Amino acid sequence: MTDKTNTPISVVGLGLMGTALARAFLKAGHPTTVWNRTAAKADALVAEGARLAPTIGDALGGVTIVCLTDYSAVRELLGDAGLDGATLVNLTSGDSAQARETAAWAEKHGARYLDGAIMAIPSSIGTDEAVILLSGPRPDFDLGALGTVSHLGEDPGLASLYDVAGLTMMWSVLNAWLQGTAMLKTAGVDAATYAPFARQIAAGVADWLPGYAEQIDKGSFPAEVSALETDARAMAHMVEESEALGVNAELPKLIKAMADRAIAAGHGGEQYPVLIREFERPGS
Ligand SMILES: NC(=O)c1ccc[n+]([C@@H]2O[C@H](COP(=O)([O-])OP(=O)(O)OC[C@H]3O[C@@H](n4cnc5c(N)ncnc54)[C@H](OP(=O)(O)O)[C@@H]3O)[C@@H](O)[C@H]2O)c1
Repeated sequence: MTDKTNTPISVVGLGLMGTALARAFLKAGHPTTVWNRTAAKADALVAEGARLAPTIGDALGGVTIVCLTDYSAVRELLGDAGLDGATLVNLTSGDSAQARETAAWAEKHGARYLDGAIMAIPSSIGTDEAVILLSGPRPDFDLGALGTVSHLGEDPGLASLYDVAGLTMMWSVLNAWLQGTAMLKTAGVDAATYAPFARQIAAGVADWLPGYAEQIDKGSFPAEVSALETDARAMAHMVEESEALGVNAELPKLIKAMADRAIAAGHGGEQYPVLIREFERPGS
């Protein structure tokens, strides 16, 4: 591992996120080169000590962080840049297939390629709250200036997959909270009153994950706490209550429909994570 702050870094793409990335590297003391299609966006960073690369090829000398709108912009920009010997860390958002294809493409052009995903907003870059996921060859440089950096494995698609898995968790939890909030509002309970209660439930459920993960990994789902058919009876209350209150019942119905399918397939006596079988195949 090279010294944390001495690795020369280039940042290609100075939109909202790229600018935050470049600023964090500068702040941590990395010699920082920047390049952007619209060169004027580099002015503030240059005033703060960054070097402006005159061409995209000039920006590919050290470890090059790429943060553009999408993968097609990455391929379009870097296609003619001369990638032989370059080290690319592509933090542009995309899916795992794009990440794997772009890794193969970059390697064919002689570059070392890591893919990545940023689970943060620009203002949190440079703090521990900014989660940066990397996948591909294990890096021999440190990007800790950006936040909490995790290398997930050699498969370049992993960072994108963890990213969408995390987004699924985030929006599912938020939707569940909004559903309960809509129900309670009908009784005059405001969101702020329900929020601490909801938070406690979410934290309690989070504690179940290691045990449930063990059941999924073993492929064995003994009903140690409750059976799925017992859960499904509570789900029926959730649907009926939503309909009776006149709030949206789509989410409760989806939850119940998935459990019903697993029960119909003979899993009613097993524990909740047996529903992984429903999530592992395309829905109806
Ligand atoms: N902003 C966030 O909160 C956030 C959070 C997580 C992940 N991300 C991801 O980070 C990436 C960048 O987001 P952003 O918010 O920085 O977007 P942005 O402000 O719209 O910036 C887009 C950047 O891409 C460049 N670009 C687009 N097409 C190009 C092309 N064909 N050739 C060269 N440069 C091109 C733009 O250059 P010009 O300046 O010349 O137009 C600009 O530097 C996205 O993949 C986004 O999903 C963003």
